[in-house]
Amino acid sequence: MTIRTHTADGVATIEIARPEKKNALTVAMYQQMADAIGAAHDDAAVRAILIHGQPDIFTAGNDLEDFMKNPPADEKAPVFQFMAALGYAEKPVIAAVNGAAVGIGTTLLLHCDLAYCADNAMFSMPFVSLGLCSEFASSLLVPLNAGYHKAAEKLLLGEPMSAEEALEMRIVNRILPPAEVLDYARKQALRFNNLPPTSVRETKRLMKAGWRSLTEKIIQDEARSFARMLRTEEAKEAFAAFFERRKPDFSRFG
Ligand code: COA
Repeated sequence: MTIRTHTADGVATIEIARPEKKNALTVAMYQQMADAIGAAHDDAAVRAILIHGQPDIFTAGNDLEDFMKNPPADEKAPVFQFMAALGYAEKPVIAAVNGAAVGIGTTLLLHCDLAYCADNAMFSMPFVSLGLCSEFASSLLVPLNAGYHKAAEKLLLGEPMSAEEALEMRIVNRILPPAEVLDYARKQALRFNNLPPTSVRETKRLMKAGWRSLTEKIIQDEARSFARMLRTEEAKEAFAAFFERRKPDFSRFG
């Protein structure tokens, strides 16, 4: 199983478990995560959702091979189902990040309520280097959290972020020693068992309400661009370069 789920003590846990491919996410994995969030929503005993990866990797983002073979065609695609389930989750979602969080691995943190990371965590949003564009409201939420110029370094140049930088950029709440991240995140999730669930859900809804319609608009705009760009020669060159373990050459593109 590349996505493991279990529910205990009011916390639904989603573990990304594909370490041999650095937890790269396939269509099947997105669907399983979307279903797990849906099940957590329907289970009255669940008070919070916890997402984590492996001790040395959160996720390498989209599985690039799977992505080229099964590009998301429309909003029914599992990646959209997953991000919609996450973005509209009424219950609090907590992320624990060890190792790298690449691409959607960083993007999804923008939609979690709380995010904790290890001091050795690395974040990146290399969409431009892959011939693609920003996704799932990162074009809105990264500048909003971190300011436009910082966002431009990360989204246009694709510069990676250390744990300290991710904290400064308000992508994570707190940095911890690697061995403590998951336990700390779980403890935070457990705290929701002692809070009135309706108040938690309503406060979460209100906190997100201010930019909900803008977020939806930007996500649709990004999705149209992303789908178009996936078919470009620039993206094909970038993806081929990754698997051929060479630098991409974009010099022939105008
Ligand atoms: N899609 C598909 N396969 C991936 C992958 C991805 N996003 N990321 C890693 N893998 C695979 C590699 O192809 C390799 O497979 P192999 O052993 O069959 O050759 C295996 O996972 C290990 O990856 P490797 O690159 O050797 O590990 P590393 O520790 O040197 O580096 C990363 C880890 C995450 C920094 C690096 O794998 C990486 O940059 N991955 C791509 C990230 C990316 O561009 N994601 C897409 C964002 S939209």
